[in-house]
Amino acid sequence: MSKKTKIKKTTCDVGDWLYSDIVKDHFFKPRNILLDESGYEADGVGVSGSPICGDMIVVWIKVDKKTKKITDCKWRTFGCASAIASTSMMSVMVTENGGMNIKDAKHLTSEAIIDRLGGLPDRKYHCSVLGHTALKEAVIDYKKNEPGK
Ligand code: FES
Repeated sequence: MSKKTKIKKTTCDVGDWLYSDIVKDHFFKPRNILLDESGYEADGVGVSGSPICGDMIVVWIKVDKKTKKITDCKWRTFGCASAIASTSMMSVMVTENGGMNIKDAKHLTSEAIIDRLGGLPDRKYHCSVLGHTALKEAVIDYKKNEPGK
């Protein structure tokens, strides 16, 4: 007969570690995640890592050659909940309303992403940098291989 383990109730001071409902939604239901890139033909790929925590992220983009708008943005990360939510939101922002122009995408900021997420705890700011840094790298990669170059 097995003994029941008693779980002691504990409290934990989490300070300002509060996540908005939008962050939680994007963490539990990440948009545009790509688990298997085989067969996915991207126009640009970018990778970025955080020196603070060692986590990393890969972003793949497809670009309309005529309009220079991002038509698809996929990603995968070895990162925390904040990185997942931030990158998910970033992928929505660059593809919504017909897609963001690659010039504008290069200038997307952490602040804009955090704003759309309804905020992030201060100490998780570095997690929000990964997605758009990888996006910038993907745009640079696209430009390197741009048709007509
Ligand atoms: Fe590493 Fe958030 S702690 S990405």
